Amino acid sequence: MKRVFLETYGCQMNVADSELMAGVLEDAGFERVERPEDADAILLNTCAIREHAEQRVLGRLGDFARLKSKRPELVVGVAGCMAQHLRSRLLDRSAVLDLVVGPDGYRTLPDLLRRAAGEPVAHVRLDRDETYGDLEPRRGSGVRAWVTIQRGCDKFCTYCVVPFTRGRERSLSLSDLIRQVRRAVEEGFREVVFLGQTVNSYHDGTHDFADLLRATDAVEGLLRIRYTSPHPSDMSERVIAAMAECPKVMPQVHLPLQSAADGVLEAMRRTYTYAQYLRVVERLRAAIPGIALSTDIIVGFPGETDGDYEQTAAAMRDIRFDSAFLFKYSARPGTKAFAWPETVSEEEKGRRLTALIDQQQRISATTNDGLIGQEVEVLVEGRARRNQTQLHGKSAHFKTVVFEDDGAAVGTLHRVRIVAATPLTLIGRASSSAIAGPPLVTIS
Ligand code: 5AD
Ligand code: SF4
Repeated sequence: MKRVFLETYGCQMNVADSELMAGVLEDAGFERVERPEDADAILLNTCAIREHAEQRVLGRLGDFARLKSKRPELVVGVAGCMAQHLRSRLLDRSAVLDLVVGPDGYRTLPDLLRRAAGEPVAHVRLDRDETYGDLEPRRGSGVRAWVTIQRGCDKFCTYCVVPFTRGRERSLSLSDLIRQVRRAVEEGFREVVFLGQTVNSYHDGTHDFADLLRATDAVEGLLRIRYTSPHPSDMSERVIAAMAECPKVMPQVHLPLQSAADGVLEAMRRTYTYAQYLRVVERLRAAIPGIALSTDIIVGFPGETDGDYEQTAAAMRDIRFDSAFLFKYSARPGTKAFAWPETVSEEEKGRRLTALIDQQQRISATTNDGLIGQEVEVLVEGRARRNQTQLHGKSAHFKTVVFEDDGAAVGTLHRVRIVAATPLTLIGRASSSAIAGPPLVTIS
């Protein structure tokens, strides 16, 4: 068995885990292929955060069942959070499956795949010491490297399956991480995004998240640093000061609020009140003027009243997030809230969700319109998908900017004047300073 097809579902952490798996597999002599038809083994790296995510994967397994009926020797595996969540029940439920491997089993993946060719295998032990800190992920191409700095979560929000699928919180060592960042820069990456479930609670026993930001800021050749997702309760003065003082740390934070009603926040066990969240926003805005903020919101949590929902909608109007990810509550087996009766109908969840999406679209549109006429600095990523005569990249605020191709090199910072905007994209023209002069930074 040599050729593996790897497909990724869910969050950026899963994308990073797939890069880790690719590294482990390639080191063991496996080759990654682009099409399932060309593979000896198929691995789905899955998500369990909402029921819908699991249903998508079960649907996809149907496609692979058809492939396997033609080629019975094909090995099909499910990795990641859904594997950990459903464990060997998955093997019972799906005749097509040969392997179930949770997030702490990737070190032995080559061996597991070989064994699975003989008989069904499940590796779903969580390991509170496994950080994969010594392994080298095989990163995809591009200018942005996703670097996992912490695994697992200790917060146990009552709706969330992650502490059960990814286990207890643990951090990689600062020295391993700086080595990874340096290597990413050598490979051509210009931006790192640090990943963790509560990324700002990072602590390796000696260094905290502020130390990591400062040490990374000193890495030569790196242009930008971002991170996701922080927990509001872990947003310390030290972290905010490091953000404000490190020029490479971008003025942008994704700060999940979930709800603005204190009763709901308490039932969710989020560990902050809305007033405390607001205080974090104020401190961030005072220390980093113009900082872009985005958030996650869940509607229809058990017990959420019309008034609670209205408070969340009002909070989003007050804070004016640049963007927001909005979700309908999905009861997850194994979590505390799973036992609580659902009090908001699917229709009402849908209404609340649609209303918040509309409201956020208007806010994002107004905010982005306000940028028309301004110059932003873009890290050039490559050709725009829709129009090959245009380039695209992100602004410091993590907004997508599309602008006409003026020869700007991928991986360089480029000044662009915004001439039009939609809620999701800024349209720009390279400003005269950029056309006349060299790029702000050139790295060969
Ligand atoms: N139902 C709906 N949304 C959820 N999230 C996490 N668990 C659930 C759930 N059971 C959302 C939260 C989190 C984001 C990654 O997914 O908003 O911040
Ligand atoms: Fe889930 Fe809460 Fe941990 Fe985030 S902080 S991963 S929502 S338990």
